[in-house]
This record gives sequence, structure tokens and C-alpha cells, in this order.
Amino acid sequence: MTTHTRTGAGGTLGLALDGIVLGCDYNPEQWDPTVWQEDVALMREAGVRLVAINIFGWSHVNPADGRWDFAALDQVMDLLHAHGIRVNLGTGTASTPAWLTRQHPEILPVAADGTTRYPGGRQAWCPSSPILRDRALDLVARVAERYGDHPALALWHVSNELGCHNAHCYCDASADAFRGWLRERYGTVDALNAAWGTAFWSQRYGAFDEILPPRLTLSSRNPGQMLDFHRFSSDALLDHYRAEAEVIRARSDAPVTTNFMVTAHIRNLDYWTWASDMDVVANDHYLDHRLADPVTEMAFAADLTRGLAGGAPWMLMETAVGAVNWQPLNRARAAGELRRHALTHVARGADSVCFFQWRASAQGAEKFHSALLPHAGTDSRAWRESVELGRELGVLAEVAGTRVEAHVAILFDWISWWTLDGEGNPSTHVRYLEQVHHAYRALRAAGVTVDVVPAGAALDGYRLVVVPALHAVQDAAADTLDAYVRDGGSALVTFASGIVDHDDRVRLGGYPGAFRDMLGIRVDEMCPVAPDEELALDDGSRASLWSERVELRGAEAVASFASGPALGHPAVTRHRRGDGLAWYAATALAADAYAALVARAADDAGVSRDPHAGPHVELVRRTGHGRTYVFAINNSDRPVPLDVRGTDLLTGEVLRAATTLDAGEARIVREETR
Ligand code: GLA
Repeated sequence: MTTHTRTGAGGTLGLALDGIVLGCDYNPEQWDPTVWQEDVALMREAGVRLVAINIFGWSHVNPADGRWDFAALDQVMDLLHAHGIRVNLGTGTASTPAWLTRQHPEILPVAADGTTRYPGGRQAWCPSSPILRDRALDLVARVAERYGDHPALALWHVSNELGCHNAHCYCDASADAFRGWLRERYGTVDALNAAWGTAFWSQRYGAFDEILPPRLTLSSRNPGQMLDFHRFSSDALLDHYRAEAEVIRARSDAPVTTNFMVTAHIRNLDYWTWASDMDVVANDHYLDHRLADPVTEMAFAADLTRGLAGGAPWMLMETAVGAVNWQPLNRARAAGELRRHALTHVARGADSVCFFQWRASAQGAEKFHSALLPHAGTDSRAWRESVELGRELGVLAEVAGTRVEAHVAILFDWISWWTLDGEGNPSTHVRYLEQVHHAYRALRAAGVTVDVVPAGAALDGYRLVVVPALHAVQDAAADTLDAYVRDGGSALVTFASGIVDHDDRVRLGGYPGAFRDMLGIRVDEMCPVAPDEELALDDGSRASLWSERVELRGAEAVASFASGPALGHPAVTRHRRGDGLAWYAATALAADAYAALVARAADDAGVSRDPHAGPHVELVRRTGHGRTYVFAINNSDRPVPLDVRGTDLLTGEVLRAATTLDAGEARIVREETR
């Protein structure tokens, strides 16, 4: 996976800016123009260099059918330019104006139960609506025509968080588009019947015209149809992105992107298929306090975003200074967290840190969302911490362009997410992302930095590859992993992996079908357990959620079930395969046991682990320009040892001996020697 920077673009991220870029969303339309002067002056004070505007601009620049008014946007573009602030220009198509949906209610999205979703919120449009597409591209053409050469322009921002709310539409236009997509994919209806297994429940189709999107049914729906609807929906929005990007590229040389949502709560788009269309990969990330460990999820999301960027630096396009407004309980960031969390993204490859948003709204659904400039104004902690962050990011300029060093990879796959979390699986308590996070947390606890890569990616550079719950896998991807192991690599596969193919068809002959030979095991029955049922292993460790009747077929047992339905069967196995090693965990190990297993697999594979890194301490290296930068971030409430030599970029202090990193502190050290 590679990202391409457009010809002629230079500087950080191809944006013709240098250093680590501080930016934000700016919604001047919510304010009287008299406020704008103060805004730009304060942006300068905070070190803001890139602002996203016109994201929700449609009804402002196009207030009625056929009426266009760019006066305010012209003024804002020029004002920002006059103050040396670059623009991340929204195409403005994220939310339709009321006149348009009144004129064409068929644009509105329809939910699986057939009910319409009305305007009054945002993103109330069907991704497959030809009318919407037409009107949106007209808007994009006008915006690109007008500002394509504007000196303030640094980046194009297509729509906004495509698929955040409208990823799955079940209307008649979507049904038509779905059928077209299926025709393209399968050619014949027989091929579709075979792929979906429609021999079941008399679901056989005689013609493509009989097929509907998976609207709500009385019973479980067809899993093949559900999977293809996920794929289709992701492709429909990618097609929308491509259409907007094409219109822009015909009129402007500035790079084009859109903001991904690599987070814990959105799984609608298969970003592996999107990434190469982005001139720079950009992600929106908000801490999710509904999770048990939001900080680890943040680190994972940053690593996955870097994976989507093919290892290249990427943009944090949105994050919050403090609280968001859309969780049940919207927690403020504790003192110091803003800085540590922003630096965590930079540590993991972000060359920009942008916030939603500049000035906290006084009205609207997001009026209690934090901002760089809060309701209280500049006499506030948020403002002071933001200004200080801007200063520190300025000091880190030399880090821009460097790449994160990792010798361990984790495979991540949207198809597995969609299938494992689908209907009719052995346990609704086994959720794909939780299993991935579980593995990631174990790696983090073991002091290992990881790359996140797609199934089927080349693995030669890695010493250890972790494969959590890779439920759906194609032969080619399984073969790549096996060849990597036989060539001397190490893999750790966990339960629920290798079970189905990319049609969601079970691989027969015993689980884990695709990985049976590589792992040297065979499973004849899955035995999930209740979420509160603890499983004991004979080495004293604990586990939960899952067990299975593993038979050894060449592997050795590392630990076995000492309780539960698979009593006596191996729970953790190890198989020498060619020149490499293939480990298997047939259960959800408790965190300590998981971390110990990962540490053992990493040590066996010769992965260097940092003894001082851990669940609450980030230690990540970025290298490039002949230098290495160590990001050490202590999220814990006690000092931790830090054994790094070099110059702390933030303080200028030279570290000549091992030292400590205070509670809540961060150091970014340019290493002298390694
Ligand atoms: C998303 C959107 C923004 C804003 C923020 C709030 O990231 O792109 O417009 O709604 O969420 O957290």
C-alpha cells in the first residue's frame, strides 16, 4: 500500500508546509464577520497554520437553486491568506441544503426498515443517488474553479467523514446500484447464487432484478448478501470520493484527501481499498470513553492509520482539545492529557495535529464540544494548553518526514470485522475489534511497537506477525503468511481465525481451516463460553469467552484447558513450520497471560522489546534523515525509568545517562548513537 504525493507538492505531507502542522476546523459562518479578525490573530498566537473551512458550506454558497454566493468564502480565504494561514478547503458537499431535499426528497437515505431519514441533522443523502451526485459535483466544480489556484490553498478536503451516518442506504436507488454492483462482481446470477449459498432457505435468485439490499427481515439475513452489501456500500462512497476528486483534479494541482474514521465505533468502510486514492492519508480520532482502555485504542488507531498510509507520515485531521458532545458521558481531558495524546499521534507517524474545532460553537448540536478557543475564551486551560502544544509542535519540526520503526506486524481486516460481527455466529460476545485490541494491548504491555497491515501484505521485514481473529481469509493471504513462517518468520494466530473464505463460506475439514496446516492443529468443535465464565489453563493462567477442542497434528501444547467444555485439550500451541514458528491461542487469554505469551513469541523471534515501555508508557521511535527520535510518553501516575541518550528536543536537555520520566511527562529525544 503506497500513498502518492501529487507532482510538484513539497514539504510536510505534500502540503507545501514544513514541520509538524497544527491545524483546525474553522466554521466562520457561525460567527459575525467582526469576530473573524480576532480569530486569525489568535490563530497566529496559537501557531495554527492550516484550517479546514467550507466543510458544511453548501447552503451558504448555494442558498437557493441556481443562486451562488461566494462573497463570504472569498473574504475568509483572503483573510487567512493575509495572515499566512493555509487552507484545507472543504468541497462543501457533506450536508445538503434544505431546498435541495425539498425539491428532491428521493435523495434522502432510507434505513434497513424502510423508513426515511430526514434532513435537520447532517449527511442526509443517499450515496447512490444520481441526483445528489449531479448536484454535488456541480458544487465541487464551482468551488474548485474558484479557489483551485488560490495562494492560501494547501489541500482539498472532499466532503466530510464519508459514511459517518449514511454508509448504508436501502432506498430504491441504492437497490438499483447494488444490483449493478453485483452484476459487475458476478457476471451471472448463478455465480451469485453460489457465492451467497442461496440453496439455503429457498433463497435462490432467478435474475438480478429479484435482488434487494438486505432490508430488515423476520429472521437472520443471508450472510453472503450482508457481506456484499458492506462491500458495495464502501465502494459506493469510494466512488463518490473519486468523482469529487476527479472534478477537483481537472481544476487544481493541490493534493486531495478526505478524513477517515479509524476509530472504535465506525466500521463501515474498508479503508484498505480507499487508501491509495488519497494524496495524503488523514484520520479523525476522538478518545472513546465507552471503552475500557481508550488510550490504547488511540495508539492502535494511529498505528492503523499509518498502515493505511503505507508507513508514510499521515495527518491527524480532527481530534478534540477536551470533551466531545456525542458520548453518553463527555469527559474533559485531565491536565497534560492534551499534550500527551497529541504527541502519541506524532510518535506514531502523524505529521499534523488538527482539531475540531477552532472556536466552540454557541449554538447547534455541537455547542458543548470542546475547541481550541472555548466558550470561556482565552482565559482558560484549554487555550493555554493549546498554545503551549502549538509551541512544542513547532520545536519538533525536524521530526517531520521520519518513519516509525516496527519489527512486529498485526494483520487487520474489515472483511473479518464484517463477518465475525455478523448474524448467526457461535458467540455474539466475540467481537472482532475487541479481539484485535486485546492482541494490541498485549503487544503494548510487552513493550513492542507494531505496524498494522492488511492480510496478504508482504511480511518479509517483520520478525513476528500477530493474527487476531482473522475470521475471513483468502487462500492467497493464508499462503503468504505460511510462506513467511516457513521462511523463518513467527506468527501468533488467535481463535476465530481462518474459519471462512471471502464469500463467508466455511472452510471444511476442521478449524481453523485456512491455518490448520501452518499451525499443526485441527479443531473439530468450537466451544464458546458465557462472558462471565472464567476458564482455567493448566499453567495457572486464566482465559474467557472461547474454548475449542484442539487436536495436535504436529504442534506441541504450551498450555491446556484445565476447566470448561474443552477440558484437557490444548489451549495454546506452538508449531515448528519450516524455518519458522506458528503459535496458536485457542481462547481469549487474560491480559497478563496474553502479554506473557506475546513476550515469549517476540523473544523467540528475536524482537527487541523495551523493558520500560508498557501499557501506560509509550516508547516509539521515528527514524529518518539519518537520525532517530525516541518518543517517551508516561501516561501513568508514577515516574518510570528512561534509558535513552541524546537531546530532549522539548527542553534542550542532553541526556547522558539513564534517567526517569516523571508521571504525566513526555520527552522527545534525538538519539546520539544507537
Ligand atoms: C466529526 C466531524 C466533525 C465534528 C466532530 C465532533 O469528526 O467530522 O464535523 O462533528 O466529529 O467530534
